[in-house]
Amino acid sequence: MDCEKDTILITGGTGFIGSHVCYFFLKKGFNVVSLDSLVNSSKKVNKNIDNLLLSEGYEATGNLKFVKGDIRNKDLLRCVFNDQLKKNKPISSVIHLAGLKSVKQSKLNALDYWSNNVCGSINIFNVMKEFKCNSIVFSSSATIYGISENPLIKENEEFKPQNPYGKTKATIEKILEDIFEESYKSMRISNLRYFNPIGAHPSGMIGESPNTTPENLFPYILQVACGRQKELNIYGNNWPTHDGTGVRDYIHIMDLAESHYLALIHLINNKPQILNLNIGTGIGTSVKELVNIFESVNKCNIPFVYKDRRDGDVSICVADNSYSKKVLGWIPRRNIQDMCKDGWKWMSKFPNGF
Ligand code: NAD
Ligand code: UD1
Repeated sequence: MDCEKDTILITGGTGFIGSHVCYFFLKKGFNVVSLDSLVNSSKKVNKNIDNLLLSEGYEATGNLKFVKGDIRNKDLLRCVFNDQLKKNKPISSVIHLAGLKSVKQSKLNALDYWSNNVCGSINIFNVMKEFKCNSIVFSSSATIYGISENPLIKENEEFKPQNPYGKTKATIEKILEDIFEESYKSMRISNLRYFNPIGAHPSGMIGESPNTTPENLFPYILQVACGRQKELNIYGNNWPTHDGTGVRDYIHIMDLAESHYLALIHLINNKPQILNLNIGTGIGTSVKELVNIFESVNKCNIPFVYKDRRDGDVSICVADNSYSKKVLGWIPRRNIQDMCKDGWKWMSKFPNGF
């Protein structure tokens, strides 16, 4: 199906993942409505997305419409869908990324997480139903699997989320399952379970720019590299891994962005369905290895100290990505060196973020 000029809504569109996903869909010729409350991002990223597309020869200016707003505001969501309808550019699909993602904060303010992530998602699903918009790609997380005995985690692994954040993601997936049961003749749903997205667009024009001190490893390494933080805390050197530090499946943000496009095209071109897909490389890298590779690729020094294990951490979390590869024809093409190089390019250009 030719989807060029279809209009899609991307919630969380100015965030780390959302900005790269917006860029990817614009490049493919979609009209994009990006909605974000800016609680963890800046709307300045939209200018960079436009400039980046122009620098690559795409005349996309005008195809990106930004709306500042909260997904908990159902009336606003209705307005966004209505506006597009009036312009004869109805929203045909939603890529739903808006949400809060700090495990630590989710334990301190559990209700905020249930309200933002779950109530906000229910609003989106309700308004989609009102406007007969039946396709959605949802950003889920490997965190729903919790502690696993399996070296490579498959999609049929039991949900064992270890914290309120993970529980909200698992709950949203359950809600989507019920929505599909109810409307199996029309709904097209894909839950993308991200492993650890890092890096940036290779131009360094867009990247991760959180509003507060990052809690994830890679953006913290970037801040140490550019002198914004003194040293990295490595949470535990006694995990049951080859070097004692935690092992994760890091995936380049551009490969991750592409998976959204392939997932949506797959949904549009096939019968109604619900698809659960692991989005990772299938390769595990320890914290210590990531630090070493970052230092060697970018010729810099990342001072670190070992600290106690972080509450709620798991030792190893790596994807079995064979199903995503098979269904989507998706191949993660960038390696860990590319992730380190591109992430640093972004940080060198914008050391203070947007
Ligand atoms: P991010 O914080 O950079 O982006 C999320 C965006 O959502 C932010 O721009 C924020 O302002 C916006 N937002 C939050 N609550 C909102 C609300 N109620 N209404 C409107 N906008 C709201 O995070 P990200 O890394 O880009 O993550 C995007 C999605 O992917 C999140 O749902 C996150 O849980 C999920 N995810 C991220 C990772 C990761 O490692 N980055 C891993 C698994 C899943
Ligand atoms: C974390 C969340 C996960 C969420 C994802 C995206 C936890 C337990 N898990 O994943 O639910 O979906 O972020 O928000 O928080 N590390 C350090 N020093 C640091 C930061 C991290 O050593 O300053 C280590 C961690 O112990 C872990 C690895 O680096 O071994 C990766 O951590 P992180 O980037 O936070 O990702 P996850 O824990 O996998």
